[in-house]
Amino acid sequence: MLSFLTKKAEETYRLGEKLGKRIFSPSLIALVGELGSGKTVFTQGIGEGLGVKGKVRSPSFVIINEYPGNIPLYHFDLYRISQEELKVLGYEEYFYTPKGVVVIEWANVIPHLLPPQYLEVRIKIDDFYRRKIAFIAHGSAYKKLLERIKRDV
Ligand SMILES: Nc1ncnc2c1ncn2[C@@H]1O[C@H](COP(=O)(O)OP(=O)(O)O)[C@@H](O)[C@H]1O
Ligand SMILES: [Mg+2]
Repeated sequence: MLSFLTKKAEETYRLGEKLGKRIFSPSLIALVGELGSGKTVFTQGIGEGLGVKGKVRSPSFVIINEYPGNIPLYHFDLYRISQEELKVLGYEEYFYTPKGVVVIEWANVIPHLLPPQYLEVRIKIDDFYRRKIAFIAHGSAYKKLLERIKRDV
């Protein structure tokens, strides 16, 4: 596990950017944290780090947004979605994409649908501006990624 403390939204964005620059493709990042904790801010940073086209916005009302790029970004928000809708959407095509980075806000609602290997990112609100952010690797490729990030943070 790798832990961070951010003291403003921009720091969370920069941490996401750092991850976006280091993450491999294909990969999946499962975000867990209450409303307003910074999941979308973090994802916007990932988009910046990946260099995708277009500004990353909250997909709350559309379930998924796709951002093309060298490594495309597939951004899910499962806040108000049912398992049935996810199935109809064909979520597996995304979760097991051969190319791209999948980021899922509220991934905790679908623990049984996540692939065996992924990076879990937990964001906890400490106070109005402070966030505790933990990276937890599930699988060897993600453990190596955390080692690399640890070395250059
Ligand atoms: N350290 C911080 N990291 C991330 N967001 C922060 C931080 N401090 C304050 N904020 C604010 O918290 C809110 C996070 O919103 P958002 O990323 O949409 O949350 P979520 O997607 O988890 O619901 C933003 O308004 C942001 O400006
Ligand atoms: Mg959000």
